[in-house]
Amino acid sequence: MTNVLLLNGPNLNMLGMREPKLYGNESLSDISKNLESIAATKGCQLTWIQSNAEHELIETIHGALTNKVEIIIFNPGAFTHTSIALRDALLSVDIPFIELHLSNIHRREEFRKISYFSDIACGIVCGFGPMSYELALHAAIEKAQLGKKAG
Ligand code: DQA
Repeated sequence: MTNVLLLNGPNLNMLGMREPKLYGNESLSDISKNLESIAATKGCQLTWIQSNAEHELIETIHGALTNKVEIIIFNPGAFTHTSIALRDALLSVDIPFIELHLSNIHRREEFRKISYFSDIACGIVCGFGPMSYELALHAAIEKAQLGKKAG
């Protein structure tokens, strides 16, 4: 069974209410429930968390090793553009991850075009609103299963 961790950074608990033209009308819990049901049909175990605190995200990434997480899907929110500490946490556990954004960060303000994660991610999904999460889950499952076949 593929073990996937979905991590969400700051302000993503406000999805549904927060700038809906940009981020859509679905709450994070709606999005995650949908993902859980997709994961179940694919024989995949999905755990998800959201935190507004950088240290909690870092500790969850460290814990992913003991929890035998095979792949991480990560929407770092605004930490995308600021957090060397989260980048280092991902490098320290060496678990493959997919960077995810609801909005297309390359069509927005200049400061959002810089990501501390893109060059170390195995792939990036951005710009599809809540559907970005579904696309990332499909990609994560494929990627993890390919990794198992490669041994
Ligand atoms: C975001 C993009 C970030 O720039 C922003 O700070 C967010 C959400 C996205 O999903 O589009 O909080 O990660």
